[in-house]
Amino acid sequence: MGQLSGKVAVITGASSGIGKAIALAFGAEGAKVIVNYLGGDNERGVENKAKAEAIVETIGAENALAFPCDVSKREQVQAMVDAGVERFGRLDIAVNNAGIEIKRDFLDVPDHEWGLVMDVNLHGAFYVTQIAGRQFVKQEAVSGRESRGKIVNISSTHEDIPFPGYTSYCVSKGGIRMLCRDLAVYFAPMKININNIAPGAIATPINQSVLEDAEEKANALSEIPYGRFGTPEEMASLAVFLASEQSNYISGSTFYADGALALQVTKY
Ligand SMILES: NC(=O)c1ccc[n+]([C@@H]2O[C@H](COP(=O)([O-])OP(=O)(O)OC[C@H]3O[C@@H](n4cnc5c(N)ncnc54)[C@H](O)[C@@H]3O)[C@@H](O)[C@H]2O)c1
Repeated sequence: MGQLSGKVAVITGASSGIGKAIALAFGAEGAKVIVNYLGGDNERGVENKAKAEAIVETIGAENALAFPCDVSKREQVQAMVDAGVERFGRLDIAVNNAGIEIKRDFLDVPDHEWGLVMDVNLHGAFYVTQIAGRQFVKQEAVSGRESRGKIVNISSTHEDIPFPGYTSYCVSKGGIRMLCRDLAVYFAPMKININNIAPGAIATPINQSVLEDAEEKANALSEIPYGRFGTPEEMASLAVFLASEQSNYISGSTFYADGALALQVTKY
């Protein structure tokens, strides 16, 4: 029996990178998985849909559902959770993974860019967490299971560590840090756990420009005590633990998964 057997999970931004690895790991551990992707009629939306559908095929169509939704739109998040509950009967886990970053010197950041980063990274996590939380508390508790629900946020070492040039990103992830800490206390009587994973530098599409530039890549590697980028699968194994019954006494914590990067950063 898998560690997540009998559980239903929604993972945002799951068509690529860390979200994809989490969707596949959850499926392999027996969960039913709602594979969220950012849809749309443009090339990116069509590509995301094909990737999400391929993930569903790998997990098995009876145990997974690809669902387009922009997490920054409350009504779309509600529609996604409703569709998942209709298909699989309940919801037990929500992973706030969807995220974007925009590099810009702070004095030049326009309102719309600041707003977009907050809308996706922070407001998206607010909508998903609130809508999932409402579902957790209204459904029947499962006999023999203490937990009523699990929220796992894919935050960043930059929830705590400055990164000038990415101020909007840092502030959005700082918000996720406090969302996690505040809600850990609020959710405790409801037996809902909320925790953050703070990845360091992981080899995913968000880092494509760094990975493709030899000099930038060497600079990035020189900052990481482990001497390599992390893998999406290394984030996924931690997400499985935080979504499972093995972590029922853990809430409000951030787990750095960064090859010790955050402990020795002197500059970015
Ligand atoms: N890769 C790293 O080094 C690293 C480090 C720290 C934190 N993170 C965080 O990990 C998470 C996943 O990033 P990744 O590294 O896998 O990169 P990624 O770009 O592959 O994943 C981000 C996903 O979010 C989706 N997305 C973007 N806007 C969305 C929206 N409005 N609605 C729904 N989905 C949306 C994208 O389509 C994409 O699939 C992000 O929150 C990121 O901030 C990544």
